[in-house]
Amino acid sequence: MGDSWEALKRECAGCRECALCQTRHSVVFGIGNPKAEILLVGEGPGANEDQQGIPFVGRAGQLLDDMLAIIGLDRTKVYIANIVKCRPPENRDPLNVEQEACIGYLRRQIALLRPKILVCLGRIAAMRLMDPKLRITKDHGVWYDVDGMRMMAMYHPSALLRDPGKRPEAFDDLKALQREIGRICEHTEADWRKL
Ligand code: URA
Repeated sequence: MGDSWEALKRECAGCRECALCQTRHSVVFGIGNPKAEILLVGEGPGANEDQQGIPFVGRAGQLLDDMLAIIGLDRTKVYIANIVKCRPPENRDPLNVEQEACIGYLRRQIALLRPKILVCLGRIAAMRLMDPKLRITKDHGVWYDVDGMRMMAMYHPSALLRDPGKRPEAFDDLKALQREIGRICEHTEADWRKL
């Protein structure tokens, strides 16, 4: 039988594949439009996300929403998920074992969504999905073709909060994303009102 969003979400909710299940408040599955052509992948939930069960709801999330708005997007037109679905304590980077334990869920989300464009938010997602040797400072904004998707890494919104000097580069990457959407995505504004 084929996979479904409901089955996947249910499995995720009960996951005990790594130690993060012991400290999590919620499993942050992901959110957005299952018909989206664009998938944004962050690193893992922070404290606010863990409390609310929704990705990118803290300060970084507000900035992400502002970034999407610059290019005419919002959460109804994209899907947002993370490499790990449970919060790493003290906001540390997710360990390799935690990423390995969790990545299958994201792979299934990708298979269900079949996005045309996948944007990695930050180096953790980019190294896991695009290239383990990727250097975010050098390779952000560069398009890769991976498994039939166009993929690009951008600075993580948290990095842009810490270092506003990176924002002009992030703006250029957003414009490149907008161009690529115009080139390969099919949904129009009228479609979105119906989807
Ligand atoms: N940072 C992430 O990478 N993901 C979230 O969901 C929130 C903050």
